[in-house]
Parts: sequence; C-alpha cells; structure tokens
Amino acid sequence: GKLLKIGLIGCGTVGQGVVRLIQAEAEEIERKTGLRLDIARVVDKDPTQARKVGVPEECIAEDAARIFEDKSIGVVVELVGGTGIAKDFVLRAFQAGKDVVTANKALLAKCGKEVYSSARAAGRCIAFEASCGGGIPLILPLRRGLIANRITAIYGILNGTCNYILTEMGQKGKSYAEALAEAQQAGFAEVDPTLDVSGGDTAHKLAILASMAFAHDVDVEKLHVEGIANLDAQDLAAGRELGYVCKLLGIAARTDAGLSLRVHPSFVPRDHPLATTAGSFNAVSVYGNWVGHTLFYGRGAGSKPTASAVVADIVEVGL
Ligand code: HSE
Repeated sequence: GKLLKIGLIGCGTVGQGVVRLIQAEAEEIERKTGLRLDIARVVDKDPTQARKVGVPEECIAEDAARIFEDKSIGVVVELVGGTGIAKDFVLRAFQAGKDVVTANKALLAKCGKEVYSSARAAGRCIAFEASCGGGIPLILPLRRGLIANRITAIYGILNGTCNYILTEMGQKGKSYAEALAEAQQAGFAEVDPTLDVSGGDTAHKLAILASMAFAHDVDVEKLHVEGIANLDAQDLAAGRELGYVCKLLGIAARTDAGLSLRVHPSFVPRDHPLATTAGSFNAVSVYGNWVGHTLFYGRGAGSKPTASAVVADIVEVGL
C-alpha cells in the first residue's frame, strides 16, 4: 500500500469529523483502496479543538508553516473557510508542492479562477466535493458520470440551515429564531449564519456547480439572490393550503437568452422530491439532454456527512 500523510488546517466541526472518520475507517479504506491515510499534523489557532478528538500532542500545531515545510506531507486539507487566510493557505500549499482538499465554497465561488490557475501552474490538484451538498457526491458525478450530457438545468436545495429552518417552521410551527438557533447548535450553520439565511451560501454552491456543469465562468456577484430571513410562518401556511411547500432553491438553467442563475424561496408542488427533502438534507435535480432527470439526495451539512466527502477527496487525490 501507499502512505498518504495529511496536513489538516482548521479543526472545527468538519475538521473534527475528518479526524474521527480517519481514526475509525483508515483500515477499511486501506483494505478497499490500498491507500493508508495518516494525519501527520493538525493546525488550528485553538489547539484544544484537536485535543477534543484525541490528536496526539506532537501532531498539534498553531502555525500552518509546520505543514508547508514538512516534505513528507502530500495533501493539505483546508477547513478554515472564507476568502481571507484560507486563500493564503491554499496558495501556499500549491507552492509547497502539495495537493489541496477543501470544503470552502466561498473561496471557490469568489476566487475559483485564481485558485485553479495557481494549482495548474504548480502542477497540483484541488478537490472540493465537500464544498457543495455536504456528503452528497455532486462534483464527481458532474465531472464524470454526466460528462456526456449537455446539462440543461439544475434545481437544488443546497443549504442545510435554511432547509432545516423552513422545515421546522412549516411542519412544527417553530419560530424562525428558534429554528436558526437549533441549526447552529447542530453544527449546520456557518460561523456567520447571515451567509446561510441571506442565500449567499446557496449562491456560492450554485456558482460552483453551474461553472462545472456548463463549463462557463460564473460571476457569483451577478446572481439574483434572495434569502429566507423575511419569510414568516403565514407565508409557508398559505402555500401549504394550496399544495405547495416553500424551499430555498438555487436554480441554474440554459435558456434561449443564455444561462439563468438565481437563488430565491420557491413554492414546490408537495409531491415533488424536492418538497419532501426535510431538515438538513439537501437535494439536487440535474437535467441532462441524454440522461434526462437525475436526482442527488443526502445530508448537506454537518460534521459526519461533510467529513465523508472530504475524506473521499483525500483518497481521490492520493490514489
Ligand atoms: N452552512 C452550510 C449549510 C454548511 O447549512 O448548508 C454546509 O455547506
């Protein structure tokens, strides 16, 4: 077998999930793939985060340079998030000759071009399955399984926090504030939950999916984006009486006038698969001109599902 040493930057909800998954599944993954995963170093500005999941003291550091200068580390897993320091980490990883795995949708949606071109210039790769739809495989299916199609449309529930809030409000009559607090508690929400409820997080994910599906530059700043913060229980109830469920959708469609990209609350007929997607689950309908309708469904947020996608990417990069 081959040994892949991993440098993990950011040991919050998802990072801790990645550590736990590798602790639990490394042997089984090696049996299936021949690749031995080893977390060589975990960097976080708060070292107690890594201690919580039993990372040995000698593997914990506060300075990411410890990863970049370590020639034995082959892949950097960036789970810091955002477009500030996380971007420096990703670019420095390429310069240091390492591949990158990230869940950072904001970074890819806003600075994708720069990040991909630095990867190419350094001859490294970047994998980002966990950036869209948490544990649901979406990037690989678009790149491989559906590549023979012209994608005509994507309709997605892409934010677990919003879907959780809308489900709790619609089905249990909870208040917006109460449902949001629960989503934060469960580890679905962003550090700044306005990114979730404003539709911004959905827009980031839609931009990534659309740029892959349509092989097109997508300027996330130009998307029409409307969130859920102004909805109230009465809006949801009114729709329900007419047979509709309110969902925050990210929509990308080929039209005669070009690509149409938008994010807004939408009424979905109650028997549509997107309507029955509840809680932190995400679902993405992808239409291809040869395959017709495909549907991807699963947990779109949270420590374990997102770790599942991150570790899949680590294996993909390492093989
Ligand atoms: N805050 C995001 C969500 C996390 O709620 O879907 C997953 O990207």
